[in-house]
Amino acid sequence: MAGALAGKHIVLGVTGSIACYKALDLASKLVQAGALVDTILSYGATQFVTPLAFRSLTHREVVTDTFDLHSQFSNEHVALAQQADIVVIAPATVHCIAKLAAGLADDPLTTTVIAAKAPLLVAPAMDANMFDHPATQENLAKLRSRGVVIAGPAAGRLASGLTGMGRLLETPELLGYISATLGRKGDLEGRTVVISAGGTQEPIDPVRVITNHSSGKMGYALAEAARDRGAKVVLVAAPTSLPNPPLVQVVRVQTAQQMAEAVFKAVRQADALIMAAAVADYRPASAAEQKIKKAAGALTLELTNTTDILATAKGPFVKVGFAAESQDLVENARAKVRSKGLDLMVANDITDPQSGFGSDTNKVTLIDKNLRAEELPVLTKYEVSQRILDRVSALILASGA
Ligand code: PMT
Repeated sequence: MAGALAGKHIVLGVTGSIACYKALDLASKLVQAGALVDTILSYGATQFVTPLAFRSLTHREVVTDTFDLHSQFSNEHVALAQQADIVVIAPATVHCIAKLAAGLADDPLTTTVIAAKAPLLVAPAMDANMFDHPATQENLAKLRSRGVVIAGPAAGRLASGLTGMGRLLETPELLGYISATLGRKGDLEGRTVVISAGGTQEPIDPVRVITNHSSGKMGYALAEAARDRGAKVVLVAAPTSLPNPPLVQVVRVQTAQQMAEAVFKAVRQADALIMAAAVADYRPASAAEQKIKKAAGALTLELTNTTDILATAKGPFVKVGFAAESQDLVENARAKVRSKGLDLMVANDITDPQSGFGSDTNKVTLIDKNLRAEELPVLTKYEVSQRILDRVSALILASGA
């Protein structure tokens, strides 16, 4: 397992809210990602979910009582705090947030928080009126000012029947926040990385577009991986069904021209540009204003070149391109290193079913500006991203920026 969570020691605090059931899913996904999860349940939480459920999922003891003589942590209330890489409280109730803001330590969870040096991430869940209350807002502001990461809440339908702010974030979003918080002091801290993703769409008429098979997965994995190493990430995304990754600035575009404008604006402050998007090389010379009607005979579309974003974007930043090739992979990719003035090229063979468009894995060859090639095995797109970012990080350092 090579994700940001593998081997991390996570203390998961769960406090009494109907959203407790979601904490079971979070615990399960953290364990699946390779984390060691120690759960602390408040008394309120035990009224909604059982310690046994968490113990079954995490395969570790669950703490519910500061004074439990049978617990492995009974002699040392701060034992969990010392081991933690991060303390996550999800869901965090109004009462829990108020106790944290006041610095109270009257139960196993708040005792652990006060004793921990690790970052604290708080994911509130409550009724909308409770969230809006000035006391709650003041308490959250106080926690933020101490460096606590507040994840959510989200807006939507609440258990009370009200609609408003107060829903616990969903597990994938919480996992994003946790990974990002764990990695915030990583080797890309203080760096800005611009990443493009997805396949651009070039309108033919109001109904039809010219596009390609890019799902956006490669670019999104890069954005998450860069975020998890501490980078500020601007993700310029062509249409995709993927949700916005937490703590990433997403700029949605449709056409190659819109992507060019968004990238050129974002790179003014950037240390690196990574173009994983499949950008149309051609677009209809003019899009019809009305739907083109079916008629007898063939239809000829006149196409014109789009701007080559990578070739046009001029550094000082590190420039990384992708090449999706169906033949002569390395030779074709090497030619693009030169023609686009790249520091690094990521070549992927799209004829391999485990590689390229739509898959969760990719098989790539990295080619540097001296045209030296390194072939990588089939890896998840997140793992491929980490290998690319190892190179990008070294290139940024070598540039003296
Ligand atoms: O999104 P997924 O489903 O995960 O699939 C990932 C991917 C296959 C799309 C990705 O890994 C990939 O290979 N992206 C680049 C595909 C491509 O269009 O390559 P290209 O050889 O046409 O372009 C070379 C490079 O120039 C690319 O970095 C491209 O973003 C860039 N380019 C291309 C055209 C253009 N007008 N401007 C550009 O900047």
